[in-house]
Amino acid sequence: NWSMDSFVEKEIERIRAIVGTDAEVVGAVSGGVDSTVAAKIMHSAIGDRFHAILVDNGVMRLNECETVKEQLSNKLGINLKVVDASEEFLGRLKGVTDPERKRKIIGNTFIEVFEREAAALDKENEAKGRGKIEYLLQGTLYPDVIESISFKGPSATIKTHHNVGGLLEDMRLKLIEPLRELFKDEVRALGKVLDIDEELVWRHPFPGPGLAIRVLGEVTKAQVDICRQADHIYLSEIRAAGLYRKISQAYAALLPIRSVGVMGDQRTYEQVIALRAVETTDFMTADWFPMPVEVLKRMSQRIINEVRGVNRVVYDVSSKPPSTIEWE
Ligand code: XMP
Repeated sequence: NWSMDSFVEKEIERIRAIVGTDAEVVGAVSGGVDSTVAAKIMHSAIGDRFHAILVDNGVMRLNECETVKEQLSNKLGINLKVVDASEEFLGRLKGVTDPERKRKIIGNTFIEVFEREAAALDKENEAKGRGKIEYLLQGTLYPDVIESISFKGPSATIKTHHNVGGLLEDMRLKLIEPLRELFKDEVRALGKVLDIDEELVWRHPFPGPGLAIRVLGEVTKAQVDICRQADHIYLSEIRAAGLYRKISQAYAALLPIRSVGVMGDQRTYEQVIALRAVETTDFMTADWFPMPVEVLKRMSQRIINEVRGVNRVVYDVSSKPPSTIEWE
């Protein structure tokens, strides 16, 4: 793809001109396509002077850290630091049920942890006689830029989104955004040119607050584990049915209620999993996805059989608006 190749070349030149031969760059990665493509471009430009940081916030999906490590570190050769801050995040989320408070706690804790880790990297660099960290890489896309200057969509105004603006002020880092003129489909095309795995390139978006807004009510490690297992089964079955690319976003939510069931001759009183899948082009409006009945049957059976503590599965048939894509 000629235009994508030349975009990458130009962007690498631009980054090299900005960063120079001494300074170093830090950036958060999430396992999503945007941050991975941005990281790959930065790595191509300045090699191991770029440091990627993955913060495990305790509300990520099953095996997420391992997957990101495999892709970024093993496959793409990017300098990656994985920070397990899960106890710190879960500790602060204790007793919190309000969705907006969850978002704020996760956003603020993320900034704190990231700054701390970036500062630690800077110290290590100094001890090794390497350059100072002066730049922050972000995988901001054109629609994000537009949204923040002129247009506030429902999710931006009704729900506070993840925001790392604080990093720039506190650490006096300068921002580099290689994708700021691109749309999502262009970033995906770039991902292919850059030899990033097809599966990663086509990944659904995943919210910064992660499973914390999909475990309705209080977020505890036990609740996150249930949600995580159900979500993993759900997405595996979507993939196995060949439906992943047809769906724009899909996840399992753990509801904060219990319902009565029966197992053998025993009455059970356990939790409920809600399955959500939507089709959308812009995430501002969305239709619920008509999941085939046989696929639903298998999903439900597997979740109820394999996930302890769940005795009921329901499928969400609400579109946006008036519902939102997330339950919280
Ligand atoms: P809603 O629920 O508002 O979601 O229809 C629209 C899109 O935004 C994502 N979303 C978030 N992403 N931080 C994020 O990074 C958040 O707090 C957040 N809330 C919603 C959601 O997953 C969907 O893609």
